[in-house]
Amino acid sequence: MANPLFRRKPLAGLMAEAADPLDDAHSLKRTLGPWSLIALGIGAIIGAGLFSITGGAAATNAGPAITLSFVVAGLGCAFAGLCYAEFASMIPIAGSAYTYSYTTMGEFIAWIIGWDLVLEYAVGAATVGISWSRYFGIFMEGLGVNLPDSLMAGPWDGGIINLPAVFIIILMSLLLIRGTSGSAKVNAFIVALKVTVVLIFIILGWGYINNDNYTPYIPDNTGTFGEFGFSGIIRAAAIVFFAYIGFDAVSTAAQEAKNPKKNMPIGILGSLAICTVLYILFAHVMTGVTNYTTFQGKDGIAPVAVAIEHMGDVGANGELQPDYPWLNRAIIIAILAGYSSVILVMLLGQSRVFFSMSRDGLLPKVFSEVHPKFRTPAKSNILFLLFVSLFAALIPARVVGELTSIGTLFAFILVCVGVLVMRIKMPDAPRAFKTPFFPITPILGIITCLFMMVFLPGDTWLRLIIWMAIGIVIYFMYSRHHSKLNSGNK
Ligand code: ALA
Repeated sequence: MANPLFRRKPLAGLMAEAADPLDDAHSLKRTLGPWSLIALGIGAIIGAGLFSITGGAAATNAGPAITLSFVVAGLGCAFAGLCYAEFASMIPIAGSAYTYSYTTMGEFIAWIIGWDLVLEYAVGAATVGISWSRYFGIFMEGLGVNLPDSLMAGPWDGGIINLPAVFIIILMSLLLIRGTSGSAKVNAFIVALKVTVVLIFIILGWGYINNDNYTPYIPDNTGTFGEFGFSGIIRAAAIVFFAYIGFDAVSTAAQEAKNPKKNMPIGILGSLAICTVLYILFAHVMTGVTNYTTFQGKDGIAPVAVAIEHMGDVGANGELQPDYPWLNRAIIIAILAGYSSVILVMLLGQSRVFFSMSRDGLLPKVFSEVHPKFRTPAKSNILFLLFVSLFAALIPARVVGELTSIGTLFAFILVCVGVLVMRIKMPDAPRAFKTPFFPITPILGIITCLFMMVFLPGDTWLRLIIWMAIGIVIYFMYSRHHSKLNSGNK
């Protein structure tokens, strides 16, 4: 008998699963059209990466060449995005990368990737929850309410518990439990708002670009690896990669999409393309209106706020007189709403991956029980609400942020490998969308993502390894025996 580690889910069975009767009370409801899917992607993509991380990466790693870092990270995502689109059009199942690897590389790799996706979605939601909390504090300060520091950060960040982060995670989870269609409507509204604010920033800021700020475009390396020069551009690409995370979450909603074979590639690639253009323009304006050194040591709202403050004149005594002080307030609102939609889609993605893993028997049934009225995996949403809140309440933002990036890059690599394997093993299986320039695209995807992974700090690698080790123990103790592919469980 073949080694159970490599047992694969047959493609034909998956296709039947994808075509589940729509009125089945145990299945998810198909409500999402192409625009909702693009909005879902943008909802997950534009967030802390753009508003909070870009300034810092420009100040310490890349200078004005942060724009090039966005190009590099965007290329890696484009290669991976094309591979995701091929798989999602072929196997439109909620499990995304997990399911793709189950039919191509076997159960063990599928488990590894499913377990890894927790880092992207659940830990990603926690990361953005922590950032949200910071802006919530700033927003309340603007209203004259000072929240106690001890309730705004976890123990490793000098507080006791990050309560606003818990609050936003609970709110978004409740929205998800009530239904995907309602969640998609809220998401679409937020996306319109945040894209408008980003566009206003780009259009108004363009007029204040001072070309002197682009000289030198690639500042000389300081002598330390990753601080400016070529290595700085790549290190910054690995950092701003976080800003692109989320387009793949579209593929987790495959079982809630109308006509998924056609609409999945539209949602994945459409959202990624729109955000890539916005990001490159945003980074260009940000480092054009003021010198990159002014972002030094400015975390939180500061990077974007600093740029907005430089859109105006300088008074006689050197103080800045911004022409659009209201833009800073608009940015805060866009950030609070925008980060909420990132959390929403990440939590959606997480519950859908576990939904598929549970249906396959690799996780307990509770993760695939569908609420009779709302037709959503409500119990799973509640369990993740607890897990993600705990992370957001206690763990520092940097730790969870880098863990999200490394976990996502790892998933992207496995998806690119999966496309290669699938094309070789099943060249004639129907694919509504085919990755162009095969095999160059998946190979470049693997190389670019691996390159960015190498540039993440060693402690992040260690955490990834520990997380994976825990996953492997669970696989051997539970999943392997409960798998539906295990002959005894059929
Ligand atoms: N791309 C998402 C963000 O930047 C995760 O917040």
